[in-house]
Amino acid sequence: MRVGVLTGGGDAPGLNAAIRAIVKKCEKYGFEVLGIRRGWAGMLEGDAIPLKYDNIKDIIGLGGTIIKTSRTNPLKQPDGIKRIVENYNKLNLSALIAIGGDDTLSVAKAVSEAGLNVIGIPKTIDYDVPETEHTIGFDTAVNEAMHQIENIKATADAHERVFVVEIMGRYAGWIALYSGLAAGADLILIPEEPFSITDVVNFVKRKIESGQKSLVIVVAEGALIKDYKGPITKDVKVDQFGHVYLGGIGEFLAKEIEKALGIETRHVVPAHTIRGGSPTAFDRIISTRYGLAAVDLVREGKFGVMVALKGGKITTVPLSEVTGRTKKVDLELYNEAKVFFE
Ligand code: F6P
Repeated sequence: MRVGVLTGGGDAPGLNAAIRAIVKKCEKYGFEVLGIRRGWAGMLEGDAIPLKYDNIKDIIGLGGTIIKTSRTNPLKQPDGIKRIVENYNKLNLSALIAIGGDDTLSVAKAVSEAGLNVIGIPKTIDYDVPETEHTIGFDTAVNEAMHQIENIKATADAHERVFVVEIMGRYAGWIALYSGLAAGADLILIPEEPFSITDVVNFVKRKIESGQKSLVIVVAEGALIKDYKGPITKDVKVDQFGHVYLGGIGEFLAKEIEKALGIETRHVVPAHTIRGGSPTAFDRIISTRYGLAAVDLVREGKFGVMVALKGGKITTVPLSEVTGRTKKVDLELYNEAKVFFE
């Protein structure tokens, strides 16, 4: 039996821990493992390398992914699925484990519907995959963002400045909300609740007038300004899954605050630094558990599902139930946090 594993979409800390666990468990069952290189691009091209536990046993703490990743979307190519089926057969695979977020999992679903034995593992720092309490990389990204916001708080305090920190997360505010709350930000703005510039300016004015000398505002990259058409973007181009390159809201907001109040306001964009680092213990453990569980599913012959964490237990959800939906921040949670933004 030969099992393929691929990582697709943005890299996330914990991917290597999952790969390591997959290889370990496969070897225990006597399965061979092929690492499919650069996500779905590797399946389109039949580009794969054998993975042996002895060679990779020390990768648990490494960020990135040893088998590389890409945002290649085979569904955009007329013969994409056909080529994947051909290469699956040429590589003599019995199963394919696809580790990724909604984009990668939506291709996994299509490939599964085409008759291949596919299992998904949820991965994204954005945390926006439904039906699971953990996506690989989220915990690390939150912790890294938290540290960076704390660093900004110190320098903001020293210079008595206002800072706006823009945090990744695409169309969901999970990383911004969790990291901002954990770091004690003065205000957190997320895509789930569009804001007005006037309200933010008035908030800063009120804080400064009440004697506060420095402020740190966290804004999710996909945050929406009321009455604007969609989020602020870096480029009009879209990737193969139709996503725009988000970014710029932090700079925009900082300029608006400075213009309105004449207060020196800086912006910082940690961007990819929050996702490239070494995974937290939590990410390493859950990624390992996901990897082990996926191989058990291969052995049981249970395909077309994603492994998921629910109530601390590993379970499965049909791929059809997780794709095409985005898990957004629950406004109840955001409203709870608002006591710190008064
Ligand atoms: O989906 C993960 C993510 O890091 C998002 O938070 C961000 O918007 C996007 O990827 C950035 O994409 P890229 O790595 O292609 O610049």
